[in-house]
Amino acid sequence: MTDIWPDRFTLKDKVVVVTGGAGLIGRHICRACGQAGGKVFIAESDTEKGKKLQRDMMEDKLLSEYLYMDITSEESIKSGMEQILSKEGRIDVWVNNAYPRTDDWGNTFENIRTASWRKNVDMHLNGYFMCCQKVFEVMKEQRNGSIINFGSIYGVVGPDFSVYGSTEITMPAAYSAIKGGIISFTRYLAAYGGPYNVRVNAVCPGGVFDHQDRSFVDEYSRKTPLSRMAYPDEIAGPVLFLASDAASYITGHILMVDGGWTAC
Ligand SMILES: NC(=O)c1ccc[n+]([C@@H]2O[C@H](COP(=O)([O-])OP(=O)(O)OC[C@H]3O[C@@H](n4cnc5c(N)ncnc54)[C@H](O)[C@@H]3O)[C@@H](O)[C@H]2O)c1
Repeated sequence: MTDIWPDRFTLKDKVVVVTGGAGLIGRHICRACGQAGGKVFIAESDTEKGKKLQRDMMEDKLLSEYLYMDITSEESIKSGMEQILSKEGRIDVWVNNAYPRTDDWGNTFENIRTASWRKNVDMHLNGYFMCCQKVFEVMKEQRNGSIINFGSIYGVVGPDFSVYGSTEITMPAAYSAIKGGIISFTRYLAAYGGPYNVRVNAVCPGGVFDHQDRSFVDEYSRKTPLSRMAYPDEIAGPVLFLASDAASYITGHILMVDGGWTAC
């Protein structure tokens, strides 16, 4: 019998695009996909962070390229995609991970301005839609592709506000609407894309440790079956799996990566 599994778990010769690729979670996804042999495009609106990640990855001999992309602009997505296609001729994996938000993100429910709510839905949910629609055209033509959308536990369950205590941290209402929308849209596109062999899945992280207020980290950990927050590299493995051919029969799946938060 031939040894198929190393081939299925690899991203060798695959072209991978990660939006928001230089962020907290994104950079670990880029590195993981690079280490699995993929050619990674760091599609970012923060040029400084994107270029730095590219330099670091190249130093580690990981194939990567920074690409300016603003997912809130149809033109920017289109032009970024054209650049990738002119160089590589294909896009195998697209990870919608970017996290655009307004400066007043985090206002308590009573204080959210309607204009701000609209803007956040437009930048985030509609940004993911535009990326999906455009890359779907490419993957449909190829008769192959994997799209991974970032949801969150808060697209699935309501927040437990007690974990925020007296800290400044809160969970903005629009986030639930946006991530819930992304999760439902993922299922829609999986159903639509199946006949073209385009797989569409979502990864839903729980809280990721980023040196938050100690009391929040303690409270959050106490409520989580694995008794801690996630480390950002722990979100990359599930993305890598869904991106690879090891997940060739998985589509429309919402993969919770939350230490058991939503199991309770
Ligand atoms: N950090 C968490 O605890 C957590 C939990 C659940 C889900 N998530 C989700 O994971 C994803 C990544 O989150 P993160 O914590 O790494 O966020 P982050 O803010 O650290 O990184 C997001 C990246 O997106 C980039 N970005 C912002 N606007 C953009 C735009 N218009 N176009 C392109 N890039 C843009 C930023 O420059 C940044 O590098 C998000 O979708 C987020 O909702 C995060």
